[in-house]
Amino acid sequence: MKKCIVLKGDIIWTESPDGFRYQENGYLAVEDGLVRGVYASAPEGEYELLDFTGSIIAPGLSDLHVHAPQHQFAGLFMDEELLEWLNAHTFPYEARFSDTGYAEKAYRSFVSELGSGATTRAAVFATIHRKSSLILMRQMESAGLRGYVGKVSMDRNSPDILIEGTDEAIAEEEAFLEEASRFSKVLPIITPRFIPSCSDSLLQWLGDKAIKDNLPVQSHLDENLSEVEWVRDLCPWSRSYADAYSRFGLLGDMPTIMAHVVWPTEEEMDLLFKRNVYVAHSPSSNTNLRSGIAPVRRFLDKGIRVGLATDAAGGSSLSMLRMVTDAVQVSKLRSRYVDDSDKPLRFSEAFYLASKGGGSFFGKVGSFETGYDADIIVLDDGAFPSVLRSELSVPERLEMHAYRHSEAPVAAKFVRGERII
Ligand code: GUN
Ligand code: FE
Repeated sequence: MKKCIVLKGDIIWTESPDGFRYQENGYLAVEDGLVRGVYASAPEGEYELLDFTGSIIAPGLSDLHVHAPQHQFAGLFMDEELLEWLNAHTFPYEARFSDTGYAEKAYRSFVSELGSGATTRAAVFATIHRKSSLILMRQMESAGLRGYVGKVSMDRNSPDILIEGTDEAIAEEEAFLEEASRFSKVLPIITPRFIPSCSDSLLQWLGDKAIKDNLPVQSHLDENLSEVEWVRDLCPWSRSYADAYSRFGLLGDMPTIMAHVVWPTEEEMDLLFKRNVYVAHSPSSNTNLRSGIAPVRRFLDKGIRVGLATDAAGGSSLSMLRMVTDAVQVSKLRSRYVDDSDKPLRFSEAFYLASKGGGSFFGKVGSFETGYDADIIVLDDGAFPSVLRSELSVPERLEMHAYRHSEAPVAAKFVRGERII
């Protein structure tokens, strides 16, 4: 027997960046975890009806880049730029995850907050510690979340408290991948922290491993000007930072996410496009760490794949609705101050990036088209009365909710049809 549910409410989604599709007071039918369709009247057949009349029903959002161990200090240490921030704060906090007891507690608060918000999928950095990384995978999978977790690889330019020898990094990654194979909803991803913290031989091994074992890759690219300059010194044989990853097989040979990409050259953008690399645009983090404003309009015009990301704790919030509005806001500053020809993002475009744009990294995720995974959030905007509310369209209500109540818990959440809130 197929398991069928139907959600009733004000249904909204984006199939392209061009605008919203919506059905006020409609029915979203889900069969065996997949979207069957959106209907104006009650569909035929047997199903369980879940009545969310008056609430907004939207696709779950995908956080394409987030650091789980940094959640503990989110909202602190916003006075430095990237390299100082990593050394002074981030590395010492991540070093604590050598203690699995600490990891259990710290990851519980991360998973609990991620679970209560609009995110249904995430690509997550853990730390160099294998056991703690597996604890994070177990906790995310038990919470019903889906996505990827990477044990971070670091064997150079890192403090003694947070570094592995090259052989140790390889052996621990092998063991991590072996032990991670017991999970089915949260999968492992090859995660060199960034070029400065990985030796050439480790990067080469990770690239070869990803290709041999058919594993996706995530890392950081072109985030901060001092970082870009450092990579130029470390890889004098490369044409660019992106080219350096590429020479190690870490740029799109397998599905790849590169976070930030604030300072790409034209040639790097062409390479990202050709290799189908996903850019994890992190507007909040790029502001907090004074990294800059990524040229998202250029990415979209060139056909580069883009999703949104919190990059917590570069970003202080795990709210992907907040990232939607932050992405719109920084795009306006870019178009005003950096390049007048870069049109700002519209709200619907930014919502698309947070849902189907980034969701496509995880499969058919982030839309209500037939056959998509039923990742669904229910937003109760009736709890925040506005005298205007009855006059507003569903897209207007979603926009108001995102700007005014992005941190509010969601009323219900489904990941591939499984209810987790
Ligand atoms: N580059 C290398 N590591 C990090 C990190 O933890 N956060 C950010 N924002 N950038 C990085
Ligand atoms: Fe990051």
